[in-house]
Amino acid sequence: MIVFKYIHDISHYLHSLQQQGKKTGFVPTMGALHQGHISLIESAHTKCDIVISSIFVNPTQFNDPGDFDKYPITIEKDIDMLEKAGCDVLFLPSVKEMYPEGLTDGKQYELGYLELVLDGAYRPGHFQGVCRVVEKLLRIVHPDKMLLGQKDYQQCMVLAKMVETERLKTIIIICPTKREADGLAMSSRNVRLTNAFRTKAPLIYQCLQSIKKEIKPGDISHVKQQAIEKLVAAGFKPDYIEVANAQTLELLHTWDGKTALVALAAVFAGEVRLIDNLVF
Ligand code: PAF
Repeated sequence: MIVFKYIHDISHYLHSLQQQGKKTGFVPTMGALHQGHISLIESAHTKCDIVISSIFVNPTQFNDPGDFDKYPITIEKDIDMLEKAGCDVLFLPSVKEMYPEGLTDGKQYELGYLELVLDGAYRPGHFQGVCRVVEKLLRIVHPDKMLLGQKDYQQCMVLAKMVETERLKTIIIICPTKREADGLAMSSRNVRLTNAFRTKAPLIYQCLQSIKKEIKPGDISHVKQQAIEKLVAAGFKPDYIEVANAQTLELLHTWDGKTALVALAAVFAGEVRLIDNLVF
């Protein structure tokens, strides 16, 4: 695996490969890698000739500076995992390399409704920061495909919109969420859970499964409310438990029995904010 720190060098290298007709797949990450990331690398391998990943803890997407400071950094282990998974190229830029213009004067993306609901509402500015860094990365790497995990459902929709409005040529591929044996969605944040919350954390996915099982056409507020009550009783602090139209992310209070749905959760387990979702 070749590691690049500078935009000029990686651009030059990838350009020559792309000139030779090599198809490239890109997996952007913030490091602290787990099997979920590795499954994206493996999937990229089956679809592309060259697999590129990036590790960059993006300061502009953290609405809470404390969360940024506590974000786990495990670079040596990450490099080892990427190498073992067969990643060909790693981009490891500094903040100065990615943001020579500074962190504050970002361009504003028109994300509409997607930015007003769920994590858009609870984490102001978060998706603007995600779009800002991913647009930069895509303009550096120019991948044919970018692979993203379904765990970040809203992020996938936001990035699909950004790619469309910025007229980028990359195709987004959304891959299934990887889970621990007990159902907890894999996340870089899981290592920060206390033992007590780690033991209880599978309840989040269980609540999403109960929503899927119990939802009936008509009013759906009670299934959401039951999930919130179960989580609160177990000591979690939910930001939201919602059911939305899986295509548009419009939040629903009633269901017609036909529309494809996604149930979404964002829950504080102590100081650690976990998200998960289930499409049905
Ligand atoms: O999902 C993430 O890890 C980040 O939001 C991303 C897409 C790498 C952008 O910083």
